[in-house]
Amino acid sequence: MITQRLAANAAGIARAAGMLRAGDLVAFGTETVYGLGGDATNGAAVAAIFAAKGRPHFNPLICHYPNATAAFAHVQANPAARLIANALWPGPITLILPRAPNCPVHDLASAGLATLAVRVPATSAALALLHALARPIAAPSANRSGHVSPTTADHVLADLAGKITAVLDSGPTMVGLESTVLDLSGSTPILRRPGGITLETLRDLIGDIAIADVHSAVVSPGMLPSHYAPSLPVRLNAARPNPNEAWLAFGPQSITAPIMANLSARGDVTEAAQNLFAALRLLDAQGSAAGMRAIAVSPVPHAGLGVAINDRLARAAYPKTLP
Ligand code: TXA
Ligand code: MG
Repeated sequence: MITQRLAANAAGIARAAGMLRAGDLVAFGTETVYGLGGDATNGAAVAAIFAAKGRPHFNPLICHYPNATAAFAHVQANPAARLIANALWPGPITLILPRAPNCPVHDLASAGLATLAVRVPATSAALALLHALARPIAAPSANRSGHVSPTTADHVLADLAGKITAVLDSGPTMVGLESTVLDLSGSTPILRRPGGITLETLRDLIGDIAIADVHSAVVSPGMLPSHYAPSLPVRLNAARPNPNEAWLAFGPQSITAPIMANLSARGDVTEAAQNLFAALRLLDAQGSAAGMRAIAVSPVPHAGLGVAINDRLARAAYPKTLP
């Protein structure tokens, strides 16, 4: 694939929207950093974002919207969220809120969490793209995993040329630092990531804000209580399920079980990534209802998105192995 550089004019924006609608990845400039965008409602596009970044685990992604009304249709806003949105959107502040009941964002975008991170970016090109697409764009910073965030289209191409369909070049970013991430999903607001909007500005608007224990969040994001873990124990690398286990299969196989799901019958890790969180929830619910004791999981190849899948499965299994 040859990554196209699109000018941030009407024609370029229309082409970028068409690419995103078709499930392709397009990087675009925001006021903070360039984002690696995909249609947030399309599981294949979201899986492709993780594959392009080369992330070894599924971080939840920020979903971008053209305005607060569109964002708050997909999450359950509260008074603090409305205050901040009125004062600071479009702008470099991301709000974490509970997903709305019929939120169409694919669960891989929020890494299986019950919450969703939403923001309205401040560049005219990004807003025009979001209006043209009329769907949320999931976008982490447009760098390879572990590299620094890109503030120009050239930085994006240095990291991702050949891996994404296009970059919408709106020039260097203004802020150059990622958005502030504020978690408003619980009883106390929590700063999850410092960024383009200061803590003081936020405290002036909504009062007390706790600061997340960044260290523990970085070391083990999957261990945070807010992260979804199945209620049933998870048994990894199982050759077959025991009679009292639900079965999470991968790849073509003849084993059947009363309660089972296959992450990808054709053995495709990208398809498996799209199905992972929904399959875990399904087996957890059906397995619990049927009195199963655990979820047995077939081995998943440790390559491509399989690395991130295995990371998430290990987190799902870990607490249950404690005495
Ligand atoms: O400025 C920015 O925020 C850029 C531009 C492209 O918008 N995006 C960005 O995305 O920095 P990313 O994926 O590199 O960072 C997203 C941050 C991560 O720290 C992630 O853990 C957190 O937001 N996050 C996203 N959804 C979350 C959720 N539901 N709960 C907790 N944290 C979440
Ligand atoms: Mg980043």
